[in-house]
Amino acid sequence: MAAGRLMTPSPLIERDVDLSTRTTLALPGHAARFAEINSADQLRSLADDRYTPRFVLGGGSNLVLTGDFDGLMLHMAMRGRERVGDDAGAWYVRAGAGENWHDFVLWTLAQGWPGLENLSLIPGTVGAAPIQNIGAYGLEVAERFHSLSACDMRSGEFVRFDREACRFGYRDSVFKQEGWHVDGRFVITEVTFRLPKAWTPLACYADVASELDARGIAAPDAQQVAAAIIAVRQRKLPDPAQLPNAGSFFHNPIVDAATADRLRATHPGLPCYAQPDGRVKLAAGWLIEQAGWKGRNLGTAGMYEKQALVLVNRGGATGADVLELMQAVQRDVHAGFGVALTPEPIFP
Ligand code: EPU
Repeated sequence: MAAGRLMTPSPLIERDVDLSTRTTLALPGHAARFAEINSADQLRSLADDRYTPRFVLGGGSNLVLTGDFDGLMLHMAMRGRERVGDDAGAWYVRAGAGENWHDFVLWTLAQGWPGLENLSLIPGTVGAAPIQNIGAYGLEVAERFHSLSACDMRSGEFVRFDREACRFGYRDSVFKQEGWHVDGRFVITEVTFRLPKAWTPLACYADVASELDARGIAAPDAQQVAAAIIAVRQRKLPDPAQLPNAGSFFHNPIVDAATADRLRATHPGLPCYAQPDGRVKLAAGWLIEQAGWKGRNLGTAGMYEKQALVLVNRGGATGADVLELMQAVQRDVHAGFGVALTPEPIFP
């Protein structure tokens, strides 16, 4: 009965769903059960141990499928975006977890609320952004984050996480630290951002500065910064619709100062970024290029010719092919530099 359906918030659970078109690396795999979540009530209705194991899927842009998933995959499709308030210092803007990240960034800029422009064109969804603290061109989302709401799938209660509770780090948060990104204990439903009213462009990054320079723009507004960043990204990073990939495949490794000094003595070209805690972040892309992997394939997977940190599916790669290439790159970088590379994407 239609009335009955309206009363129950339970989402449709599909069986044996093909996931190959749902992740940007386009690897083969199926989910035993799959539900699209459009409301908080639908999510709460699945907060039950009968629905485990579970895995939460956003835009699928940071995911390596190594086979079939024998559980319930929740596809977060919750939409909505609105300004929820402002004060002397900032605008507060909230968006549903299923909103496309880049569309959301462009919308905030069109509304006249700058602050997220450096994160333009990052693939994925709003709900996934805090999990790995997405970052690019001198900005991490943590710096514009206010709070989020998540459903505790053990109790069905909704919990608010502020910035401190999220324990953000470089491509890291409490969701990764506690393994909730894999077991789906807390599922993010919406995120609120704090966009400061006192805005200045963040264009210190060399690629962005030279792009603005080439456009003859000395004092850019936020939309001009976004346009420059979009152009830089399009030049360096492959569009997953054309060449399947999951963005940076490894973290930039962070080593102690003595290790960085030792490496710099033998490899003067090595890009190094000093960290607030005295350690040093190294450019994984440079290490991979020096190890001979830039533009090189292993079977149907390879490291991208314009950015060695990006692993691409040349067509027909499987999760096993990706793992084999990942291990070969790790092995060669370790042999050449003594540095361990850890993968950035999630393996369900
Ligand atoms: N480099 C090389 N060879 C390469 C790639 C890079 O020598 O093949 C050198 C570059 O010349 C530069 C340095 O490595 O000196 C850093 O390269 P780049 O500026 O391209 O940035 P990245 O460190 O490789 C990081 C993020 C990207 C983000 C860019 C821009 C990580 C893991 N990756 O890449 O994020 O877009 O900075 O800010 O931190 C992502 O996480 O998926 C992602 C794309």
